[in-house]
Amino acid sequence: MVTHNSDLPASPTATYAHIVGWGMAVPETVLTNQELEAIVETNDEWIRTRTGIHERRIAGERESTASLGLKAARKALQISNLLPTDIDLIIVATSTPENIFPSTASLIQHWLGATKAGAFDLSAACSGFVYGVDMASQAIRSGSIQVAVVIGAETMSRVMDWQDRGTCILFGDGAGAVVLKASPIQGGVLSSVLRSDGSGGDLLGIPTVGSADLRNPDFAVNGHKMHKMFMNGGEVFKFATRVIGESIDQALDKADLNIQDVALIVPHQANQRIIQAAARSLKVEPDLFMSNLDRYGNTSAASIPIALCEAVQQGRIKPDDHVAFVGFGGGLTWASMVIKWTGNKVVESSGPGFLTPQRRQFSYLLARWRADLRRISRQISQFVNNLRPGRSRIQRLQDKLDRLD
Ligand code: COA
Repeated sequence: MVTHNSDLPASPTATYAHIVGWGMAVPETVLTNQELEAIVETNDEWIRTRTGIHERRIAGERESTASLGLKAARKALQISNLLPTDIDLIIVATSTPENIFPSTASLIQHWLGATKAGAFDLSAACSGFVYGVDMASQAIRSGSIQVAVVIGAETMSRVMDWQDRGTCILFGDGAGAVVLKASPIQGGVLSSVLRSDGSGGDLLGIPTVGSADLRNPDFAVNGHKMHKMFMNGGEVFKFATRVIGESIDQALDKADLNIQDVALIVPHQANQRIIQAAARSLKVEPDLFMSNLDRYGNTSAASIPIALCEAVQQGRIKPDDHVAFVGFGGGLTWASMVIKWTGNKVVESSGPGFLTPQRRQFSYLLARWRADLRRISRQISQFVNNLRPGRSRIQRLQDKLDRLD
């Protein structure tokens, strides 16, 4: 059971959506700028001075968007002190989903054992995480759901054209997640601004299955390779520096705050020079912006939740701080959000020991076994039904398992 701290202002009528858990996961493999020199014609000095990036993480053979997202979600759940069965909705913001469908979110829902959750993927490129948190917080504030997990997860290394030095030096892999929870305590997500300008769709993107005739494996859309990222770096740079300050101002206006009220801005991690230009346009010091792109590069939808986790770890966000998120990327899309950080201050553990790491681990295992059992029984049932028409015992077992949910 979740209770609320009495020292925080509670509203008798309104519901607020608070971030009560956060987690991140990055692959172990590091790809440094020096190592990139062996892949494309580039050099460490150029990459550092033009982007601020020193290294990035690359997913191993057995890692994927869903496996990184799952790890991040489990960590976030642990901090929130909630169980997978408490989750009503899972949103995965990604440009590198496991499949067109089933969604990466459904895979994570299954692996988590979140048997009461709806799940879907959200495509808004590097703005996707902010879009996802907005969608989830609206659902919570409307009373339609209580708990949501929003994940930004990417394996950008799989959609890089490793011959294109204009893009492959920028991106990396990783995932970050937050748990949002309903509470009568004032705070949490205060405002957001979501925008799109599809006229800039030709500036960066990844052509995929719906694009055109796929029978030709060499098919390219407007000269761009299928399933590989293309980008007009200069134009994206101008777009990003224009919209960051503008949309943060709009989100602050909506929340009735100004930039002096903000303790930290967690921006999409694309380029240190973009962050510096945005700081100039907002007339603030660059260190008001969280930056960790030197170690991870641009992890697209995962970059904001990863930076958020590190900001919390570093003590740069404290309860009652106002924090702004700002994302921008393909679409073109951009999004800003202002939150009042309560952290897991609104969640207290009750029933000591109920959610010990062992109990939590066991609940994951149990959920996994049940899901695996359901899949196996479905397969056996299909097999038996093929052999002999009519209702089988296996079918009845399957029905029983379905009723357990
Ligand atoms: N290594 C070495 N040289 C490179 C290079 C690389 N990886 N990439 C480009 N160059 C060269 C260019 O060929 C050009 O050479 P030239 O002057 O002889 O023609 C020179 O460096 C300058 O290229 P330019 O593209 O003008 O560099 P830039 O300062 O605009 O930096 C980006 C390029 C991509 C780093 C920058 O435009 C950028 O960060 N854009 C935003 C991208 C982004 O954030 N995208 C994701 C948004 S979600």
